Amino acid sequence: MATERTLSILKPDATRRNITGKINDKIESASLRIIAQKRLWLTRSQAETFYSVHSSHSFFNDLCTFMTSGPVVVQVLEGENAIANYRAVMGATNPANANPGTIRKEFAESIEANSVHGSDSAETASNEIKFFFSDLEIVG
Ligand code: CMP
Repeated sequence: MATERTLSILKPDATRRNITGKINDKIESASLRIIAQKRLWLTRSQAETFYSVHSSHSFFNDLCTFMTSGPVVVQVLEGENAIANYRAVMGATNPANANPGTIRKEFAESIEANSVHGSDSAETASNEIKFFFSDLEIVG
């Protein structure tokens, strides 16, 4: 297995409920290292650009409204097989389908307010990390 990096977002429902530390504990307990982290309030334009792959979906407008409804915490996670590992730690997009012990099963409120985002492929991870972080901000 290769050491990989993936982009994580702790979403506005997580910052609102003050549970970012509990989520970071899940991340670190899964042998993922938080090698960059910052708190931001996304602009509408940033949210629309970040989620542009979903622009044709019916949920796009609501998704961008939700993602700009409060602060987020963006992170770079590093570890063995980090992209798939983090997706397993997050659980299914819809918390109703998420496995016990996953972040979304324990913390998510709905398919929209689902607490976390993680990159879905190596190419997406590279692009999403560059969207938020310069090389100087990532300390592996
Ligand atoms: P995320 O991993 O951030 O990627 C896109 C997000 O759209 C997803 O998590 C969900 O929070 C959100 N979303 C809202 N409605 C839906 C839906 N019906 N299907 C998939 N994703 C949805």
